[in-house]
Amino acid sequence: MTETVRILFIGDIIGRPGRHVVRKWLPTLRKELAIDFVIANGENAAGGIGITEGTAKELLDAGVDCLTTGNHVWKQKEALQLLSRENRVLRPANFPPETPGCGWCVLLVKNKPVSVAVVNIMGQVFMKPILDCPFKTLDKVLEQIHPKTPLIVVDFHAEATSEKQAFAYYADGRVTAVIGTHTHVATADERLMSKGTAFITDVGMTGAIESVIGMRVNEVLYHFVTKLPTKFEVATGKVKLCAVLIEANIKTGKALSIQRIEREGEIG
Ligand code: FE2
Repeated sequence: MTETVRILFIGDIIGRPGRHVVRKWLPTLRKELAIDFVIANGENAAGGIGITEGTAKELLDAGVDCLTTGNHVWKQKEALQLLSRENRVLRPANFPPETPGCGWCVLLVKNKPVSVAVVNIMGQVFMKPILDCPFKTLDKVLEQIHPKTPLIVVDFHAEATSEKQAFAYYADGRVTAVIGTHTHVATADERLMSKGTAFITDVGMTGAIESVIGMRVNEVLYHFVTKLPTKFEVATGKVKLCAVLIEANIKTGKALSIQRIEREGEIG
């Protein structure tokens, strides 16, 4: 029988509603789906933008094994210290080498004798700041990871679907999964690529449904209609969790399946 590992990747967690979803639903999901390891994008976990010591702790305590981020990683000042000290919270690997924190880590799976490498890389198309080439960054990171584990999950935090798909082809057969984040809108294109990498263009978000990508509708509409700078607020109400479940061979690191997981409900 093939020994496998089951990895859940949770899409961008938006503010308190998103954090509550993870805290309330993840323990049940872990059992229901026999999940071994959990990765989540937490770059908007604090008030809808950035990540703090408290919000990272809340998610790690809730059962997330590794948090990835993206272009909003430094929006909260505390992130500088958090990322310098906590290796389970990543920033994109293509930031300059002087930037605090790390772009990848290798973590032990708690219930299996195996490690998972998590890599965070940001795209360049329509993104700010524009970081080093994501493709060359992947090459450099993989050189360092390869002797450690064949199980490698990449959060590719990018805007353009074309860049995300091109990146997935570049990574196919070299990593277990490429999971797109950042747009907060789930795409329906999850699949196994020809050389064994699981891919989805965007995993979607975890937060309020009645919203514009997680933020309250009124302020966003005001901004679009008036063109005035506007402070956005995190939306509340009925919530949704968007994730993907990847099953992979622990010896080869090849993905065997990728499945979209979506849950909706009230969190009170
Ligand atoms: Fe982002």
